[in-house]
Amino acid sequence: MTSSSFWYEDAGLEQRPPLQVDADCDLVVVGSGIAGMSVAYEAARFGWNVIVIDRAETIGGVMTSRTTAHLATELDDYYHILIDAVGEEDARLYHESQVAAVNRIEAICGDEGIEADFKRLDGLLVPAELAHISEVEKEYDACRSIGADVQWAEEAPIPLPDGGRALRFPNQGRFHPLKYVRGLIGAVEARGGKIHGSTVYVDHREDSGRVTIDTEAGPSIIAKAAVFATNSPVNDKLAIHTKQKPMRTYVIAGPVPRGSVEDMLIWDALEAYHYVRLQPLGDAEDLLIVGGEDHRSGEATDMDDRLAHLEHWTRARFPSFGEVRYRWSGQVLEPVDYMPYSGRNPGNRNIYVHTGDSGQGMTNGVAGALNIAALLFGQKARFADLLDPSRKPKAATSLGDFAMDRAADVKNFREYLTGGEVSSVDEIKPGQGAIVRRGISKIAAYRKEDGTLVERLATCTHVGCLVHWNPFETCWDCPCHGSQFQPDGSVINAPAIKPLAAAD
Ligand SMILES: Cc1cc2nc3c(=O)[nH]c(=O)nc-3n(C[C@H](O)[C@H](O)[C@H](O)COP(=O)(O)OP(=O)(O)OC[C@H]3O[C@@H](n4cnc5c(N)ncnc54)[C@H](O)[C@@H]3O)c2cc1C
Ligand code: FES
Repeated sequence: MTSSSFWYEDAGLEQRPPLQVDADCDLVVVGSGIAGMSVAYEAARFGWNVIVIDRAETIGGVMTSRTTAHLATELDDYYHILIDAVGEEDARLYHESQVAAVNRIEAICGDEGIEADFKRLDGLLVPAELAHISEVEKEYDACRSIGADVQWAEEAPIPLPDGGRALRFPNQGRFHPLKYVRGLIGAVEARGGKIHGSTVYVDHREDSGRVTIDTEAGPSIIAKAAVFATNSPVNDKLAIHTKQKPMRTYVIAGPVPRGSVEDMLIWDALEAYHYVRLQPLGDAEDLLIVGGEDHRSGEATDMDDRLAHLEHWTRARFPSFGEVRYRWSGQVLEPVDYMPYSGRNPGNRNIYVHTGDSGQGMTNGVAGALNIAALLFGQKARFADLLDPSRKPKAATSLGDFAMDRAADVKNFREYLTGGEVSSVDEIKPGQGAIVRRGISKIAAYRKEDGTLVERLATCTHVGCLVHWNPFETCWDCPCHGSQFQPDGSVINAPAIKPLAAAD
């Protein structure tokens, strides 16, 4: 079964025509995922003339269409760890940003009449092993100390280790991300905003208080301000990229009879944790959506095993789970100090950036939009300094871990000296790709189903790491900062802007 996300199979994806002539506006937003569309909405609602551009033909069709859309105010890296990193007061403010995001989504659904299956429900953090019990206890204390609503639960829908209790977080949320994005598209356009797909940002400059955005096809946009919401930033080569790393995560989904699984968000406490939710499906069934099995992007090829583990885990805990109808994966960017980078771009006056969402890009994207919108309107959210993209991480422990993670980049550059994954392209089967050494170059070679070979340089066009084949999504992944390329070398995911170069 190939990768396909329930959300776009269910709701489809909106398309918009490319920008064809030069344009002028108050705000240009690059990227139409949850972060970009949310900031476009806030500005349009404030009366600003907004243009959104996206590389893809579709709107919200990249990571936002591959999420699982838990709207959690609990932090997946845990508040006790965040408190160690930034202190209690800042952790309290971060929690405030997440509560503000869920409230904002609920309010926008109400104000704009968006039917996005938004629901308030409990979240449950469940220790998976004995070793997690003390972790969960620390989390309870941390949540209490920052004023987050948390309770002990003696029972959970998935087994608890002996002596373990789960943590219940009331008032979390869930929704259908693409129905929500469709609602934002309507709300922005109703206020005169313009949205363009197939419009690739290639360059920008800021002078005389105006920002110019150049697009690949030629037209430019001049605006009072620009927001880069491309998931991994395209406007910056390294500064922010050295403070986050890309991780790939996997999802399966299948039907369960309504009532057979409790309607709540469930997370276990493993490091690559499982995350579970329901989505209503007609009158009698729900879709059980289960995620997990994360790894550093570009560093695994055993996707079938990972998806099989996920299914095994699900069937062992939810016996009513039917056939697997959807399997997909996506990428999240893990910031060094657990919080996104959202606000004024370092060194700029009228350019803003949002990135580093960890596994919480739905809430972080919306909180980031509130934060950036306040800055655009000359105000400041209480959590603005906390999310400031120029901040220096405070925690020695997280910095130590992060230095180890950057070793992955160094390892990647060493691959320039090693042989190929196969000694000849003849070894590559139809539908598969592999790296081949040819002289001093490494070639990303893909064999189409009809047997023809597509060859590109394996050098990522962002800053030169070597891409790796992803057999499940059939694309090239860059382990360094998250770029992804189609088998023919064209870009799927930022920060790369240009395709993989021709092999000759
Ligand atoms: C499997 C999975 C499960 C997840 N589960 C959750 C969850 O339960 N809860 C939660 O809160 N978060 C979750 N997340 C995280 C969340 O989905 C993402 O963080 C979020 O969708 C990112 O949104 P975004 O707007 O930043 O990026 P995107 O949706 O990727 O949007 C960025 C846009 O920028 C465009 N772009 C890139 N380069 C250019 C360019 N050069 N020119 C023009 N446009 C460009 C892209 O085409 C894209 O459309 C999950 C993620 C995954 C993968
Ligand atoms: S994403 Fe930065 S080098 Fe590939």
